Amino acid sequence: MLKTVVMVSGGGTNLQAILDRAARGGLPGVEITAVISNNPGAYALKRAEKAGVEALCISPKAYPDRGAFYAALGQALDERHTDLIVLAGCLVVLPEELVRRYRNRIINIHPSLIPSFCGTGCYGLKVHEKALERGVKVTGATVHFVDEGTDTGPIILQKAVEVRQEDTPETLQRRVMEEAEWEILPEALALIAQGRVSVDETGRVRIAPADGE
Ligand code: GRF
Repeated sequence: MLKTVVMVSGGGTNLQAILDRAARGGLPGVEITAVISNNPGAYALKRAEKAGVEALCISPKAYPDRGAFYAALGQALDERHTDLIVLAGCLVVLPEELVRRYRNRIINIHPSLIPSFCGTGCYGLKVHEKALERGVKVTGATVHFVDEGTDTGPIILQKAVEVRQEDTPETLQRRVMEEAEWEILPEALALIAQGRVSVDETGRVRIAPADGE
């Protein structure tokens, strides 16, 4: 089993998409061992509890310094023999040591077609505000492995979403979630569990065909 920890900070609709797919039997080989939030008020924790998944809050506010917070996070991951970390709307910047230890074993969802509208400070509604400001006709979402940079790791899956003339940042955010994020994040997890995702020597992701394809 691919022991998977999902890290969240907010509402958890991407987490829900994963839990729903798992409940339908669509994630064979994946075991969600825990959901970890840095924010005690995150609704994502409730979603985890409802699905019978361990819900943990590890908040930086509960520790004297960043180092102690990161140590607690690392310990929680180790104790659960974590194979894969899914950042599903997680606003915590992970320490480099953790990123190195979990090289190509941490995935993140970003609500744009990377390399557009990404990088430090470009998250949440800001991404969609920038897309509308620039006047792009197509945006979307990206699932990528996490490296030491911000949104710079190897790209696993992307899905495009049409921008409509009447879109506001809020309507665009919602459509990008519904049409892209909730689809490609669980799909990336399924592909990884099937052992079909690898990163080649140039740092690009290869997806092997399904058996029999
Ligand atoms: C999503 O837009 C995701 O792409 C971004 O944060 C948002 C999280 O939403 N990183 P939710 O908590 O999954 O509902």
